[in-house]
Amino acid sequence: MVQSIPFIDLQAQRRRLGEPLDQAIFGAVASGAWIMGPQVAEFEERLARFAGVKHAIACANGTDALLIVLMAWGVGPGDAVFVPAFTFAASAEVAALAGASPVFVDVLEDTYNMDPASLEAAIALVKRDGKLRPHVVMPVDLFGQPADYRAIEPIVRREGLKMLCDTAQAFGAAYHGKITGAIGDAAATSFFPAKPLGCYGDGGASFTNDDALAGLLRSIRNHGAGTDRYENVRIGMNSRLDTIQAAILIEKLMIFPEEIEAREKAARRYNALFAKSNRIRVPAVIAGAQSTWAQYTIQVPDRAKLQADLKAQGIPTAVYYPTPLSAQKAYAHYPSAPVPVSRRIGETVVSLPMHAYLDEATQDRIVAAVLESVA
Ligand SMILES: Cc1ncc(COP(=O)(O)O)c(C=O)c1O
Repeated sequence: MVQSIPFIDLQAQRRRLGEPLDQAIFGAVASGAWIMGPQVAEFEERLARFAGVKHAIACANGTDALLIVLMAWGVGPGDAVFVPAFTFAASAEVAALAGASPVFVDVLEDTYNMDPASLEAAIALVKRDGKLRPHVVMPVDLFGQPADYRAIEPIVRREGLKMLCDTAQAFGAAYHGKITGAIGDAAATSFFPAKPLGCYGDGGASFTNDDALAGLLRSIRNHGAGTDRYENVRIGMNSRLDTIQAAILIEKLMIFPEEIEAREKAARRYNALFAKSNRIRVPAVIAGAQSTWAQYTIQVPDRAKLQADLKAQGIPTAVYYPTPLSAQKAYAHYPSAPVPVSRRIGETVVSLPMHAYLDEATQDRIVAAVLESVA
């Protein structure tokens, strides 16, 4: 019988974190301060320091972290929020939840991130159509890699728009010396367990250098509270990060830089070993960027065969994302620039096991299986 390999080995990380993690969890339980306990503020401070940003505002999940920023900016009916067509649904969902309209933008063939030329086309389309007002551009740092902000930000500024960076898959990645989280007018991340920095449930955070915006984000995540707990000055929501998750994240943040390095090493090793084959397209990282490698995603001529061959050897794979959001039932009625790249890569991309605890023997087994399948 073949031995199965985990896609992401979170148990290996848990073993490494050991006793201090258990103590952090039991400490949070024993304290009784289960909602907004002191660990939440401590984690926010550490997180902001890590990212080099003034404010980190923790909340219940990454989707809320995005939505809360849109609410704080007053994004609503009649507003256009430009999002890539090739991303997880939450990026577009929050625009719709805010009452605004997502407008889909194509991505680049080599990095899978927002195509600046397609963004220009989408903005022009909205202006020509005259029904929506361009308001927010939401680049997504897909699979761990920052979007090309040097190309995107000038467009955002020229058009007088806001930039909300969806770094749910890439928190901790770097772009020309800045950590994602510190890029944009605001940014948001997710602590879903499988993310590079994940907790043991749901969690998220928004980031900004703007003091006034930070105040709004804190208020909105807690029912629109004013200075007093039972004073409600705006419509908000219940989106607090649990104390227990903050305690876990404090422990995980301490080993996060080492884990990013380990992922980088594994990605480089995959690239080097796959260089033997001209039938595998390995991921490209743009100049000045460092990825956190949330996914290691390749393109092969026959994806179905590769997935079947690997499965037979106990090696899991995943396809992110087979269908562009602009073609999904829930989103097909929203405006979209042409998205030929999102459609095409949806048919060829496949992600391989990737995490900080991927040992060389296991990686060799995966690589051998891939090379044999595509030969
Ligand atoms: C690109 C992107 N945006 C937003 C989210 C939403 O995060 P969450 O699942 O924590 O709500 C995710 C995560 O799954 C994501 O991958």
